[in-house]
Amino acid sequence: MTRKPAQAGRAQATLQLTTEPHLASGGDAVARHPDGRVVFVSGAAPSERVEARLTKDNKSFVRAEVVKVLEPGPSRVNPPCAHYAQCGGCTLQHVAYGEQVASKDVALREAPPRIGGLDLSETTFDAPWSGAPYGYRTRARLVRALDGRLGFRARRSKHVVDIQRCPVLAPELQEVLTALRPAMEMRGPMRREGRREDEISLVFDGASVLADFPEGLTKGARTAARAAGVPLLFGNDAVTEGDDGHGPLVSSPQVFAQASRSGNQALVGYVAELCPEGAASAVDLYSGSGNFTRVLAKRAARVDAFEGARDAVALARRVAPENVRVHLSGVEQGFTSWVAEGGRAEVVLLDPPRTGTNAKVLKAIQAAEASALIFVSCDPATFARDAGILAQGGLRLARVRTVRPVPADRAQRGGGPVCEVSKRSAGRAVAGGEGWDGSAGPGPQYERPRRDAAKFDALTRRLGGGERLQDRRQPPGGDPTSS
Ligand SMILES: C[S@@+](CC[C@H](N)C(=O)[O-])C[C@H]1O[C@@H](n2cnc3c(N)ncnc32)[C@H](O)[C@@H]1O
Repeated sequence: MTRKPAQAGRAQATLQLTTEPHLASGGDAVARHPDGRVVFVSGAAPSERVEARLTKDNKSFVRAEVVKVLEPGPSRVNPPCAHYAQCGGCTLQHVAYGEQVASKDVALREAPPRIGGLDLSETTFDAPWSGAPYGYRTRARLVRALDGRLGFRARRSKHVVDIQRCPVLAPELQEVLTALRPAMEMRGPMRREGRREDEISLVFDGASVLADFPEGLTKGARTAARAAGVPLLFGNDAVTEGDDGHGPLVSSPQVFAQASRSGNQALVGYVAELCPEGAASAVDLYSGSGNFTRVLAKRAARVDAFEGARDAVALARRVAPENVRVHLSGVEQGFTSWVAEGGRAEVVLLDPPRTGTNAKVLKAIQAAEASALIFVSCDPATFARDAGILAQGGLRLARVRTVRPVPADRAQRGGGPVCEVSKRSAGRAVAGGEGWDGSAGPGPQYERPRRDAAKFDALTRRLGGGERLQDRRQPPGGDPTSS
């Protein structure tokens, strides 16, 4: 199926392109512009000939989207979702699952040396983990438009696509969506004055579905759920997700969490495998509601967790054991001051947002004198950049694994769920983590200060990766969907 052009009606240049054998880390196909620049082609599969419309013309790369498939590639498949052509939630349903996994792995092997100047000759690549291609999503944020449409946003648009069935939703969430639809279709008051639409968050915790509804819709939703016999919990109460064997975890629709329970279990399990036992101290950077803090707390005598979102910190503190201290602060301020005041950690867990971390934090990690670093990342490019800087301080990429908790989602666009890990040689290391669906929680947006961005650029240039980072990195800019 060919996606509809995002800006239909606007005359834009089209090009005939031949795509490369693997997808870029963000999920787009890669081709070459006649002038030599890289073209990221959305809606294309590997090794095919397409006609594509240019959507972004940058100095170092071009973006385009498929308008016609001229010669389909061997991995092109029919997307199972009836809404795929319009919905902005998924980007990879037209590519065979095996190729999606292979492309991710290629991206992960290729980015560290190219961008971070890392030597991978002694790095172990563990077999990639990838969950079921469909039915995995246990968290979803739907949009309900004033006219009753209920679904996800269209690609690169605020338009709400009315979704009847969504194949990436876990069956428990699909059941709720179906049961609630009649209540949502009623025209009704919106929660916040002046809003033309509202958001509905659903979280399945393994036992029940928690729903966060606008006030004006709760009554109808409650009646509809009861009539359909679907058990539903209302409000923004936390959901306990502690049945994965790693200790209690409390979450809510409002804080960051993995969009797939099974994906998170795989991720936490891998972190547990990498995390050394018996450390005197550990730190969890960008700790959220304590997903990995649980693992560290069982293996280290003392854990300091740093997180900037107040709601996430409140949840983490509810279940934190006595040996854990959760700091409500930006990592750039809180953690760096902690190190400056003498804080030391044998184990560091680093799980930054898609944009990666900054030079100040990387410097503080070196100063904390950790003997093991577990690095969880959702973007191979920023992972490679940050790991490259850490490598300059003696860290070695020891073990790496790709984890894809949300295979078909648009989360692939920004780099996609990837997991990479490393350890120090002679007691030092970098461990790469995996991929996240960065869309899961609203949370605060922490932008890297310009000054630090400049330092980063200087450091990556010194590594010799600056130019290439500009050239081949998946360009920024996600879709405004809200799933
Ligand atoms: C990828 S999530 C990881 C959360 C957690 N480790 C987990 O497994 O659920 C990144 C987290 O970093 C937080 N965050 C983003 N920028 C931050 C900053 N500059 N300082 C502190 N926390 C930040 C977000 O609120 C979010 O909880």
